[in-house]
Amino acid sequence: MRALAKSAFRGKIGAGPRRSRHCQPGPTHAVVAILKPGPAEFRRMRAEDLDAVAALEVAAYEFPWTRAIFADCLRAGYDCIVLGDGHTIVGYGVLSAAAGEAHILNVCVAPMLHGNGNGRRIVRRLIDIARWQRVERVYLEVRPSNPRAIGLYESIGFNEFGRRPNYYPAKKGREDAIVMAMELLHEP
Ligand SMILES: CC(C)(COP(=O)(O)OP(=O)(O)OC[C@H]1O[C@@H](n2cnc3c(N)ncnc32)[C@H](O)[C@@H]1OP(=O)(O)O)[C@@H](O)C(=O)NCCC(=O)NCCS
Repeated sequence: MRALAKSAFRGKIGAGPRRSRHCQPGPTHAVVAILKPGPAEFRRMRAEDLDAVAALEVAAYEFPWTRAIFADCLRAGYDCIVLGDGHTIVGYGVLSAAAGEAHILNVCVAPMLHGNGNGRRIVRRLIDIARWQRVERVYLEVRPSNPRAIGLYESIGFNEFGRRPNYYPAKKGREDAIVMAMELLHEP
C-alpha cells in the first residue's frame, strides 16, 4: 500500500489523488483515506532531487535560486535537507556551517502547504544540525517584506543583528536584508 501511495503522488507536490470518473463516492473515499501520504520526513538532498527542488523554488520565490546554485551547495558539502514523503518534496533547507558559525541559506515550503508547521520543522532541523556540529551562533538573512519568515524566525529565537543595505534584487531596484542571529547553548 505504501508503494502504491508513493507512485500515486510522484511529481505532484502536495497534490491529492485524482478522482476517477468511474469511482463511486463511497469506495472513492475509502481509497483516498488509504492513499493519503504519511507524515513528511527529513532526509539529505540528493542530485536526483534537484529538478523538483528547483521547481519548488521557482514556485515559492519571486527571485529564485537556480538549479545550478543548489548543485553547487551539494558539491560544497553544505547541509542540504528535504522534507518529503516518498517522492513528494514538501520543502527544503540549506545550511552552511564552519568554525563555530552557521548560516541558514535557504528555507522553503511548497506554497500550497504554507501555514502547516513545515517551515518551523525545517528551521528547527537546521538548528539541530548546527548544534550537532557545536555551532555557537546561527545567522540568516531575510527580506523586510517577508513577515511570514520574520515571524517564524522570531518565534524560534532569532533576533535582528543588523542590516545589509541593498542586498536583494527587488521589483523596483534593491531591498535591504535583515540579518538575524541566534545563539546556541551547549552543555559544557
Ligand atoms: C517562510 C516559510 C518557510 C514559512 O513556512 P510555513 O510552513 O508556512 O511556516 P509555518 O507553518 O511553520 O509557520 C511558522 C510560524 O511562522 C509565523 N507566521 C506564519 N505566517 C505568518 C504571517 N503571515 N505573518 C507573520 N508570521 C507568520 C508564525 O510564527 C508561525 O507559527 P504559528 O503557526 O505557530 O503561529 C514559507 O512561507 C515559505 O516557504 N515562503 C517562501 C520562501 C521564503 O520566503 N523563505 C524564507 C526566506 S528568508
